[in-house]
Formats: sequence, structure tokens, C-alpha cells
Amino acid sequence: MTRTVRFLLVLLVGLALLTAAGYVALTSTTRSWFERDLELRAQLAVTAARQSLATNWTSDRARLAQTLTDITRDDRIMAAAACSLEGEELATTASYPAGFSCRSVLERMRLEAGAGATSWSMTPELPSGRIELSVSTLTEGPVQLGVVVLVHDLSFLTRREATTRNLLLLAFFVLSVGASLVTLLAARLSWKNWTLELRRALAGGGTQEFQPLVRDVKSLAERLASEHDREARGGLWSPERLRATLTQHLQGERVVILANREPYIHERGPEGIRVVHPASGLVTALEPVMRACSGVWVAHGSGSADRETVDAKDRVKVPPGEESYQVRRVWLGAEEENGYYYGFSNEGLWPLCHLAHARPLFRAEDYEHYRRVNQKFADAVCDEVDSDDPIILVQDYHFALAPRMIREKLPRATIITFWHIPWPNAERFGICPWREELISGLLGSSVVGFHTQQHCNNFIESVDAYVESRIDREAHAVVQGPRRTLVRPYPISIEWPVHWLSQVPQVAEARAAVRKELGLADDALLGVGVDRLDYTKGIEERLSAVDELLTRYPQYRGKFTFVQLAAPSRTKILRYQELNDRIEAVAAQINAKWTNGTYRPIVLLRVHHEPAAVFRYYRAADLCYVSSLHDGMNLVAKEFVAARDDERGVLILSQFTGAARDLTEALIVNPYDLRQAGDALAAALKMPPHEQAERMHSMRRMVSEFNVYRWAGRMLVDAAEIRRKDRMQGRLSLFPRGEST
Ligand code: F6P
Repeated sequence: MTRTVRFLLVLLVGLALLTAAGYVALTSTTRSWFERDLELRAQLAVTAARQSLATNWTSDRARLAQTLTDITRDDRIMAAAACSLEGEELATTASYPAGFSCRSVLERMRLEAGAGATSWSMTPELPSGRIELSVSTLTEGPVQLGVVVLVHDLSFLTRREATTRNLLLLAFFVLSVGASLVTLLAARLSWKNWTLELRRALAGGGTQEFQPLVRDVKSLAERLASEHDREARGGLWSPERLRATLTQHLQGERVVILANREPYIHERGPEGIRVVHPASGLVTALEPVMRACSGVWVAHGSGSADRETVDAKDRVKVPPGEESYQVRRVWLGAEEENGYYYGFSNEGLWPLCHLAHARPLFRAEDYEHYRRVNQKFADAVCDEVDSDDPIILVQDYHFALAPRMIREKLPRATIITFWHIPWPNAERFGICPWREELISGLLGSSVVGFHTQQHCNNFIESVDAYVESRIDREAHAVVQGPRRTLVRPYPISIEWPVHWLSQVPQVAEARAAVRKELGLADDALLGVGVDRLDYTKGIEERLSAVDELLTRYPQYRGKFTFVQLAAPSRTKILRYQELNDRIEAVAAQINAKWTNGTYRPIVLLRVHHEPAAVFRYYRAADLCYVSSLHDGMNLVAKEFVAARDDERGVLILSQFTGAARDLTEALIVNPYDLRQAGDALAAALKMPPHEQAERMHSMRRMVSEFNVYRWAGRMLVDAAEIRRKDRMQGRLSLFPRGEST
């Protein structure tokens, strides 16, 4: 017993030392993380407001103070001040602490960090708690305008340290009690034999009871190690890497995609049959994935020559000349197309999911068509699979009901559904008369993906509000009986490099050719916008921003032209016809206002442009303005970045796009704020080449790394993981073929 007590004492001292060391390591690491985090926040806040700060720096102190107040909306930034380099206070927020005048802060910074320092911070203790003062220099081109001082609240850090300390003390107490009990028990039950047994079991040769645990621990460790290695070794995601992922994780199985829009449309024209590549973000993203993976793309055959170009099973091999995968065309009658596509999908769900002030129209007959057409496509998918546990990628709002319909026929399928548009909050979604059925249809999927975490949260909130289920918030999953559906963000992207670019002239040539075609001078400044003609894209606001630019920056009159490529879209819908007329009228009005000789500021090209032609415009332009009022992602922004291998050109991007979360070096604007958008156009036109290069370089790195192969790879790896788990837990046997889940 004396030996046991001695052992226990050593154990407790060891635990106490470990707890103390853990506390020191944890607090110092978290403190340095938080301090770095604060520095980053300060830089981001100043960068985001840079343009507004620079514009009002000396000219408008009231607006300058307003911008500082806007910065302090971040709940960790308490106060802010704008100081001239000489230490004059240009503006401060009301709560800026009096003891830290611009002069004293600048003096201290120069003393501690040296005369040339551009940023610095200190963490003084005030009676009210600890704060951090971070100083960032504001520049405009090569000129230093002054510094912005931000005051951060550090009281939360003190609170977190106290919580960490309490938790560690609690852990120490629990461990100590646990260790004492185990020790005493072990002393009674021949300790030696027991540990020998445990060691033998963990080594792999032991008792039956430990086998499953050991296997799980081993496989978890192997998986973590291999995932880490793969990310580290894999380099950029590419078609090859995606193929290798498919082989490694899913035994190279072919993939079946279900999407309304087909990637190649056969149209009959005066010169015979031609292949058209539709203007669709979905197609832009998924077509390269399909070329890499092979398989079948099930879609609506909508081209006038589509029926002439399929085989007896309604299939056609694509891409023309390469033939690496198949498109299976599904035919729809005019009534079906009107009800399912124009009606419920585009007059109901589209306005429901986009915050663009269009009222959704819900007609029961449209929904009935939607349901029947979903069944028709689900049946076509089940015809195309070559095993009873295939991988099926369901795309977009046209097919909310299909996942459950497929699951009913193929209970073992791995179904990944990606929703390409935003998902609204539960209250908004709740106005749809068929909300329960739509959500329950989507929950037939193994994974439901959205572009952003916000849309995932909205979806989970809607599930919680309208269907019976359990939400596993830790795993981001919805559980219904034995089935679970993961809800994950997968921000979509484009292929890298873009294969169309091999058909496009280099920047200098593209610039000259496009200017010549548009009848512009060689040195004319050119902006470009590329969209389907859709009311969510903010095209009217974009053209009005050009008007604003010309009103407030007269130097660009006669010099700046904005070319808008607008692909006609959903033209049978009245709202789209009205939009078309409105945009034409707005463009005409602005042109009439600023016309001078042959000069017209707006060139509106309302025809479909093939991708290579679009990329030529991207290369010819000085700026690209994406002004969506609401957009799941917006791939035009990423395409513009991909086109600019010369690292020139400025992207102006609406804050209401998913892309604004990825492309933070764009000039981010609120498209409704015409004054801000006009300023952004002016800032883009006068942005020095080195700043353009810096921003473009960083955005190109982002798009190249987070390309569409990574997007697809991550979803497929998650799908493989679900399958592996299902198989391990024997869940699959719960769903014999044909049984509904
Ligand atoms: O944005 C949603 C979406 O389905 C995209 O994926 C695609 O770019 C666009 O709508 C295409 O619309 P449609 O197929 O109706 O022409």
C-alpha cells in the first residue's frame, strides 16, 4: 500500500506540473493568436475603408468621422482616430480615449518602432480594462496621407484567460480524483496483469473487446495523416489530382451529374448545326470537372438540333472532338418546361432565394409540373447508374425534390446536392407553400452544399423550423431516423488554367482589337460587365454608376466607355422582358446625356457571346464591374481574374456576392450606393499599375489554389467519407434496395 501511496503522490505532482505548463503554454499561445488576429482585423478594417478614408482625408472631416464610426461597427473595435503625419487630429469617434492624443501616439511609435515604421501597436492598461492601440499608415499610391489609430477592446482576452484557468483547474481536479480512484482500484486488481493485457490489446493482438476500438483509432490516425500529407504534397488541384482522388477514395467510379442546363447545346442555324456553350456559371464550373472524371451528365435537351444529334438512348458524347463523357438528354414538352422551368423554378424559387425585390409567384399547376419533371429526371438518373451505390451530383434549385426520389430507388447511393443560389432565412423561405416538401426532398441527399456558411446556416434554420428532424450542430448535419445529411459550404470556382484562354489573344492584342471593333481610340479607357440579362445582376445600377462617374469626374467624359455583354435569358418571363426594355432605356438615356460626336459611354451588346469572345473582353478591359444585388457566388469575377495573366485590370465587386468573401482585394462596393460605386470606378481608373498588380496577383493566387477541381475534390472526399462510415457502421444494410428512406 505504501508503494501505491507513493505512486499516487508522484502522479498528482506530475499532473499539477502538467496543468501549470499547459496553462502557461495555452495562455501565451492564445494571447499571441488573439494579438495577431487583432492586428489583422485592424489592417482589414483600414484596407476596406481605405478608399473612403483617402477620399475624405483632408477634404471632408464630417465624412471622415463617419467612416471612422463605420469602422467601429466591428464589435471589437471601440474607437478610432485619423491623424495627420504631424500629429494633428483630423477626426475621432466620440469614444476615443482622451489620454492618447495623435501627437503622443505618433511620438511613441517613432520612438519605439523607428521613424520609418508604418504600423505599430501597444497594449496599455486603463482603469476600465486592457486595450490595444494599433496604428496603421494610410497611403494613396506612393504618398503617405497619415495614420489611422484603432482602439481594440482586450477585456474579452482577460475573460478568456480566466475561463481557461478555471477549466484547467477543473480538469486537474477531475483527473486527480480519477487517477486516485484508478490507482487504488489497480492496487487491488493486480495492476500488472491488467496493463499487460491493455498493451497487448492496443498492439493489435489482444482481446476481442478492444479490436473495434483499436481499428477505429488506427484508421482515424491513418486518415488524418494521409489527408495532411495529401494536402501538403498534392500542390495545386488539377484534373489529374481530381482523377487520382476519385481513384483513391471512390475506386475510380464514374460520376452522374443531374443539372437542368446541358453543357453543349446543338442549335440549327442557316449554316447547319452548331454547338453552343450556354452562359451559365453552373456549366462553367462543372464542365471541366466532368472532363476530368468522365461519366454522364443528365440534362434537359433544349437545343433545336438536340434530338438529331443523340443516339438511340438519347445520349451524345462530348466535348465535340474529345468525347470524354456523355450527355443524356431528357425531353420536356412545352407545358412541362413552362411549369417546371419558367414557372416554379424561375418565377417561384429564383425570386424567393434572391434578395432582389422581386415577388415570387407560386402557382399550384407549376409546382405539379415541377414535381413530375423532378421524377422524370430522377428516373433518368437511375437509368444511367451502373451500380446500386453510385455517386450522383444533383445541381441547383431545379431539382429540390429529386434527391429523395433517387434515394427511394437507390437507397445506397451517395447523393451530393449543390444549391448554386443563395438560401434565404427561414422566415423568408417559409412563404413557399411547399416548403416542407422541398426541404424533405433535399434531405434525401447525403450532402447538401452551398457556397457560403451563411447559406448553410439559413438552410439548417429552415429545416429546424419546418421539418421533423434532429440537428447535429457539432457535425453540421440533419438527422432523420437512421439517416443523416451533412450540410457544408463548398465555395465554387472555375478551372485553372482556363482552357478557353488558349484561343484568346494576349492582352495587348485583345486591347487593340476590341477598341478597334468598338470604334474607340487606342488609349480609350474601357470597363466591362458580363452577365445573363437577369434582374439579380444589378445591371441598371451598374449603368447608373457610370453616369455617376461621368457626373462627378468630368475628366473621364469622352474617355471612358463601359461595354455590357448581356446574354438574353429566360425571355419568356414577363419580368425578364421588362428588364430588357428598362436596361435599353437606361443605356439610351445615359448615352443621350453624355454623347459628344461619336462618343457614347455605354455599349450594350445583348447577344450570347461564346466563352472565348468573353475572355477577349476581359483581357481588353481596364476594369470589370460585377454589381449583383444578390449572387450565390458569381464566377464572372473569378473569370476576369483568371484572364489577367498580365496582372493588370481592376475588379469592382458587389459585397452581395459569394465571391466578395474570396476576392477581398477587389474594390468591394454596395451596388445600390451609386456614389460609392462611382467613386470605385474613378479609383479603379486611376489606380497605379503597381497596386493593380499587387491586388491582381493575390486574387490570382487565391483563384488558382481554390479552383473548381478542389471544389469537386472536397465534395467527393466528403462523399467517400460518408460511404466509408456507412459501410463501417453497417448502416447500408438497413436500406435494402427499393425501400424508401
Ligand atoms: O445561378 C444559378 C444558375 O443555375 C447558374 O448556375 C447558372 O449560371 C444560371 O442560373 C443559368 O440559368 P439558366 O440555366 O436558367 O439559363
